[in-house]
Amino acid sequence: MCTGYSTPVYSHAGRGRFRDVYEPAEDSFLLIDALEIDAQRLQLMSCTDVNPAAAQCTEKTASCNNVSLQPVITDLVECLLSRLSGKVDVLLFNPPYVVTPSEEVGSRGIEAAWAGGKRGREVTDRFLPLVPQLLSPKGLFYLITVAENDPDEIINLLGKHGLKGESCLSTRAGNERLSVLRFHRSQT
Ligand SMILES: C[S@@+](CC[C@H](N)C(=O)[O-])C[C@H]1O[C@@H](n2cnc3c(N)ncnc32)[C@H](O)[C@@H]1O
Repeated sequence: MCTGYSTPVYSHAGRGRFRDVYEPAEDSFLLIDALEIDAQRLQLMSCTDVNPAAAQCTEKTASCNNVSLQPVITDLVECLLSRLSGKVDVLLFNPPYVVTPSEEVGSRGIEAAWAGGKRGREVTDRFLPLVPQLLSPKGLFYLITVAENDPDEIINLLGKHGLKGESCLSTRAGNERLSVLRFHRSQT
């Protein structure tokens, strides 16, 4: 794809003091591609992670790419929810989406990067009810899924809460069928 944006510098992720941090992979790059396509609609980003090393790694990635960011270490958006209610213009979630035993969900280390529990949906399903509350009237929500997560069901589910969604970009990475779902309020 030729969009005029260079790939961010991320060579520190997944090694050295950031060895317990998810190294950007096909899912991360698919999300970046979807955002590049929509770049003109995107202005501001917030970020959180449950893994403290991932938050520090994100801070380094931001500074390597001349971006100012203050990652917040929290479960999903727990400590930001009341402050951000109805104010988020762009909400991105690349969740742990791999199908795993439920017992593997809930780590604060590298396992948190992939362990999604039943149908790979256990973390995503905790987040989905918060999305209508967080989005501003013109807000957009981007979510990475794999086929096992049943993306159509997620689109139907958020549809019942006033969000219209579609798959805006898909790819195959090894045995993963990845999609970026994009949602906005039905009336906008
Ligand atoms: C698939 S990785 C994506 C990493 C990076 N955002 C990217 O797109 O390349 C999933 C990330 O979600 C974080 N995570 C998992 N469960 C979380 C939770 N409950 N709250 C916040 N972050 C979580 C993991 O620590 C990991 O960094």
